[in-house]
Amino acid sequence: VQSAPLTARYPFLGTGPVSTEPYISPDYFERERENLFKRVWLNVCREIDIPEPGDFVVRELEIAKTSLIVVHGRDGKIRAFHNICSHRGNRLVNQERGSCNTFVCGYHGWSYGLDGAVSVITAEDAFFDLNRAACALPAVACEVWRGFVFINLAPQPEQSLREYLGGYADFAEGYPFERLNTPARLSYDLEANWKLGVDAFTETYHAMFLHVKTQRNMYYTAQDRRGSFLSLDLFGPHRRYSIWANTDFKWPQDFHVERLVLGLTRNVNAGLADEMTETPILELCPGLNPTRAKNWAWDQTFIFPNTVVTMSPHVMVLNQFWPVAFDRCRWECTTWLPPIRSASERFARAHGFSHMRDVAAEDVSTMSGTAKALAAGIKKEFYLQDFEISIRHMLHSVNRYVAGAVRAAAE
Ligand code: FES
Ligand SMILES: [Fe+2]
Repeated sequence: VQSAPLTARYPFLGTGPVSTEPYISPDYFERERENLFKRVWLNVCREIDIPEPGDFVVRELEIAKTSLIVVHGRDGKIRAFHNICSHRGNRLVNQERGSCNTFVCGYHGWSYGLDGAVSVITAEDAFFDLNRAACALPAVACEVWRGFVFINLAPQPEQSLREYLGGYADFAEGYPFERLNTPARLSYDLEANWKLGVDAFTETYHAMFLHVKTQRNMYYTAQDRRGSFLSLDLFGPHRRYSIWANTDFKWPQDFHVERLVLGLTRNVNAGLADEMTETPILELCPGLNPTRAKNWAWDQTFIFPNTVVTMSPHVMVLNQFWPVAFDRCRWECTTWLPPIRSASERFARAHGFSHMRDVAAEDVSTMSGTAKALAAGIKKEFYLQDFEISIRHMLHSVNRYVAGAVRAAAE
């Protein structure tokens, strides 16, 4: 545990109470829409979601009042388009994912190639001076980093994706994302501001209390009841911190299923007892657990503004919070695992996934409970302890964008 207050290392984040306005104000939400979500790079899928030419996903981005088609082209390139027909504006694709050669509009039959160009205009000879180039699907900036597909809604993004990720990309160098190709997905529609969702993954203080039945004893020992981190780094608006493991943890005697599963797994989130790769994770990805603590569980990492990436030796969990309205969001949780090789692995993972659902249900209760309680605007400020510095960092970064700062350069 670091003895010096963490906050002292980042004086620009301050120590005072923080305003609750960003969590409850419709005006603030409108500024997040224009100054934040329409300007930054947003992770919309992984390449593995659309591995073959013609594969596509459709992503609803309520915050921008649009829907996007993200498609793997014939030339291997991944592109993103607004999901709207150029003829009279019908929504072009009405399924969440699929595979095709052309996108055909159901209204009057106009068709588009995987590169967005219009390929068929029905009754073309009845139109007047049509400019086919102008009839292409409206393109959205799209770039890929380590298999993560990002889009940027700005007409001219101010930074490349790699510039935007900055020190985060350096830190994650070597993590074997490619091995983690088997998803297990959960999704919740929450009546809560999207930041209340992110915040629940932005500190570990609550794990000792809210998650007392599910998680506490796996991670925390009597040595630490403050929710401390083993280490923390901020990378511009992004960050990482290392989480403790309780290496002495054992399930009680009468937890027969759990004891069986723990014989198969080292990590409660259903990673397996052997490593994902033959090389130890800290050799592959030296940025993880930088203090090389022995009682390390995983690194909790964050790609601003809405993506939490849990990077463990056995599993990666992506948690994303998509704003829908100032008081609503969609939580998408995907656990990415290595390929399953045996019945016992399948069993251990199913158990780990059920465990995760229990933990998520606890988080849902406080996300929506906080939203309800805050709505009246009685409470004007929050108090944050030293190990909630990550919440200060989140709010500081959002505030900078909302106030119109275009680039979140490294502080
Ligand atoms: S709106 Fe799509 S073809 Fe008419
Ligand atoms: Fe939690």
